[in-house]
Amino acid sequence: MKYLIEKIKKLKEEKNAIILAHSYQNIEVDSVADFVGDSLYLSQKAKETDADIIVFAGVYFMAQTAKIISPEKKVLLPNLNAGCLMADMINHDQMVNFKKNHPNAPVVCYINSTAEVKAECDICCTSSNALKIVKSLNTPKVLFLPDANLGKWVEKKLKDVEVITYDGNCPVHHGVEIRDIELARKKYPNAKILIHPECKPEVSVLGDYVGSTSGIMEYVRKSKDRQFVIVTEKGVCDRLERDYPDKKFILIKNNMLCESMKLTTLDEILYSLEHEVNEITLDENVRKRSANCIERMLKVSK
Ligand code: 13P
Ligand code: SF4
Repeated sequence: MKYLIEKIKKLKEEKNAIILAHSYQNIEVDSVADFVGDSLYLSQKAKETDADIIVFAGVYFMAQTAKIISPEKKVLLPNLNAGCLMADMINHDQMVNFKKNHPNAPVVCYINSTAEVKAECDICCTSSNALKIVKSLNTPKVLFLPDANLGKWVEKKLKDVEVITYDGNCPVHHGVEIRDIELARKKYPNAKILIHPECKPEVSVLGDYVGSTSGIMEYVRKSKDRQFVIVTEKGVCDRLERDYPDKKFILIKNNMLCESMKLTTLDEILYSLEHEVNEITLDENVRKRSANCIERMLKVSK
């Protein structure tokens, strides 16, 4: 592994490349990553960098987002099978139909979606800025896709905006039930419960904190508490255990695993960077239209 890590680091320098890694990746990926974090943070880094190559250790929509906003850069996804189950729940035609059935409202698109879908939307959002983005539109009604759970969570929090949601979800988070949280409260009465808003809204309301993957890690960093129940993918828990060995972390269920996120290996990162393969390409018309939606989000999130 040491040899692999050294080789990747050397290649990064030679090729003026950076590696962006999502916090659900296999933890060894961090040893070669320049930035590790949530979808918003990584898309900001993809926009800011002056690297020639971005290797995206994440899933397809994340690498595609990097290409949309940094078209002049070569963006590589080490394992092209790393998709997102939620993003795959809506295609371009389903999106157009959804809009037709609910006219006269702006469309907010969760970043977990394809470029073709983003191209039809007004503004993008991530789990860390969804409230801010919907609020910024200043309208009584919005369409929200594909994540119904996040959309309904936003509606619950903002109170004065009707959020019409598409029927998509993340199977990893959607599987968490109210009884799982109630059980955790009983078993770990001193623990703080930190929840990702891709969970059902009736689950999210039971958390001490609701936020993105980076938000959850930031909460722990600032907290004086010693025990935390983590209600998101296992990668976040792994990183917290590594970074705070004196604190206790309990993963809400042991099946909180995003298989796609775990597909990327150090071998594949090396191979794609060395041979510059598995490049993300996009139709320029789709790219430009989807860029509007992401750029608008980045402006509001500054
Ligand atoms: P974050 O933006 O919180 O990293 O979430 C992305 C994701 O896919 C969660 O399942
Ligand atoms: Fe997609 Fe869910 Fe995996 Fe996140 S955890 S990348 S939403 S399948």
